[in-house]
Amino acid sequence: MWGYGKGDYTDADLRAAFEAAVASGAVFFDTAEVYGLGRSERLLGRFIGETEAEVIVATKFMPFPWRLTRQQLLWALHRSLRRLGLDHVDLYQIHWPPLAGSIAHWAEALADVVEAGLARHVGVSNFSVMQMEEAFETLARRGIILASNQVEYNLLHRTPEKNGLLQTCKDLGVTLIAYSPLRKGILTGKYTPDNLPSGARRRLFDAAYLVRIKPLIDLLKEMGRNHDGKTPTQVALNWTICKGAVPIPGVKTPKHVASNLGALGWRLTEDEIAQLDQVSAEVAV
Ligand SMILES: NC(=O)c1ccc[n+]([C@@H]2O[C@H](COP(=O)([O-])OP(=O)(O)OC[C@H]3O[C@@H](n4cnc5c(N)ncnc54)[C@H](OP(=O)(O)O)[C@@H]3O)[C@@H](O)[C@H]2O)c1
Repeated sequence: MWGYGKGDYTDADLRAAFEAAVASGAVFFDTAEVYGLGRSERLLGRFIGETEAEVIVATKFMPFPWRLTRQQLLWALHRSLRRLGLDHVDLYQIHWPPLAGSIAHWAEALADVVEAGLARHVGVSNFSVMQMEEAFETLARRGIILASNQVEYNLLHRTPEKNGLLQTCKDLGVTLIAYSPLRKGILTGKYTPDNLPSGARRRLFDAAYLVRIKPLIDLLKEMGRNHDGKTPTQVALNWTICKGAVPIPGVKTPKHVASNLGALGWRLTEDEIAQLDQVSAEVAV
């Protein structure tokens, strides 16, 4: 998907990106046991071991159908902690709704690891409104707050607005963590029909798609110009923040970090948000 290990970017780029982020105070890192089959956690653990800075680490448990007992979540977290070189994580999330076992079963397992001091907070990911509410209620019975639901949310994927998830998160006090806030790089505006993304992304975003969304990219550019030369990337991230979500853009280089941080410290106006909403509704399927 991302070209890691194929020459696009190296561990040295990732270390430099990590250091640039930490130096700027961006210290929240999201990973998962399945990313690179543990390699993402191992790399992050190595970088954390090399810094004095306090970082906030979120990782995730995958409820594979062959994982059935609550103990298996505990063991998986212990393995993640070993790879990360930590004795606890700040946020432990269920990566996807379970295919086997009930939501309540895995929510109880999340509560177990909070009580064991292995996770400061717990969350879910890719959960629907109903699934999130069930996790919320199960945890609440143990006196634990469901901290977050991590779902895809960006100007080209507004399902959380349409299905009521964003509003339910606000009502329950659950943070909506917006993954792929740049629609996997598409909202940066750097990809065009003549400059398609490489690898698996080319199948997702072909020339026809990039032609269709051009009015949105043009509007992001125009709005950025009206905000002291902000880039489409910065405007797109600012839009998710204005909607009340916490975007977690993926980065490969220190340049990406510096650019994405330019999304902070200012806000789009209500009028601009409405314009973006309208054009995004026109171009997104
Ligand atoms: N819970 C889940 O199921 C789930 C699923 C997916 C992702 N996530 C999480 O969400 C994070 C971010 O999502 P994502 O990586 O899928 O998509 P994203 O944040 O929308 O896009 C990231 C990509 O955009 C490009 N980019 C980022 N900043 C840029 C900048 N300032 N200028 C130019 N290009 C820039 C980079 O790729 P190129 O340079 O190659 O274009 C980067 O890898 C992941 O790291 C992961 O932690 C979670």
